[in-house]
Amino acid sequence: MSADQNYPIAPDGSTSADALRVTNLRKAFRSPAGQSIAVLSDVSFSVAAGETVAIMGVSGAGKSTLLNLLGGLEIGDGGTIQFSRLKTGETAGRCPWPGKPASFVFQFHFLLPDLTAVENVALPLMIDRVPGKESLRRAVIALQAIGLGDRLTHKIGDLSGGEQQRVAVARALLTNPQLVLADEPTGNLDASIAEEIGALLVDYARRRRAFVVVATHNDRLASICDRVLLLEHGRIREQTT
Ligand SMILES: Nc1ncnc2c1ncn2[C@@H]1O[C@H](COP(=O)(O)OP(=O)(O)OP(=O)(O)O)[C@@H](O)[C@H]1O
Ligand SMILES: [Mg+2]
Repeated sequence: MSADQNYPIAPDGSTSADALRVTNLRKAFRSPAGQSIAVLSDVSFSVAAGETVAIMGVSGAGKSTLLNLLGGLEIGDGGTIQFSRLKTGETAGRCPWPGKPASFVFQFHFLLPDLTAVENVALPLMIDRVPGKESLRRAVIALQAIGLGDRLTHKIGDLSGGEQQRVAVARALLTNPQLVLADEPTGNLDASIAEEIGALLVDYARRRRAFVVVATHNDRLASICDRVLLLEHGRIREQTT
């Protein structure tokens, strides 16, 4: 089964959306004392297929919260998240794609330390029931494509921080998702790694006509993205350079 079959079918039979549209999205949390903390008060923006968008904003602005809502890990209090051309039901604040449309890349990449680089990358395919040999073959190609062909059988702990992050990106992209959500994917890594990771994501978005949304504090990474959105006081505004 191809990974694309995880996506709902658009009215015209295709499996890709051409725009991601977020409208008046709201999310508040309750503090332990029971007070409401409004994190996203009125967030609206759209992303075209093939675009990579950076979300910037101070710590606590709500970047991770927004990514979690887009990926369906959390449910908003109101507003909508829509993918145009797809025939999906709308539920307030809820990501309308059922199943597992989004692929996440986290700052603390959550690779499995006892597995090798190639085994880590192959894992999502195996979970998708792609046969083991074929999963490993595709993982090898993905790692070779990002310059890690001579690190295939290294255990994760024996790789540098930047190499681990690249493995995490390869793993996130191998199942060919149309929605990629990267939360601080470069952590504290140096500028050249930030650029490399940014270039991988931008290139993937263009080739796959995917939506890539990257939450980051890293100016170098943000500058490689097609657009920068600033999340401030619970709202999004386009940052013009
Ligand atoms: N489950 C939760 N319960 C209560 N408050 C929460 C919860 N999750 C997030 N928050 C609060 O919401 C606010 C936004 O958090 P979020 O993690 O989205 O910020 P961020 O912009 O990603 O910050 P950073 O740049 O530090 O990663 C923070 O003040 C945080 O304490
Ligand atoms: Mg965060």
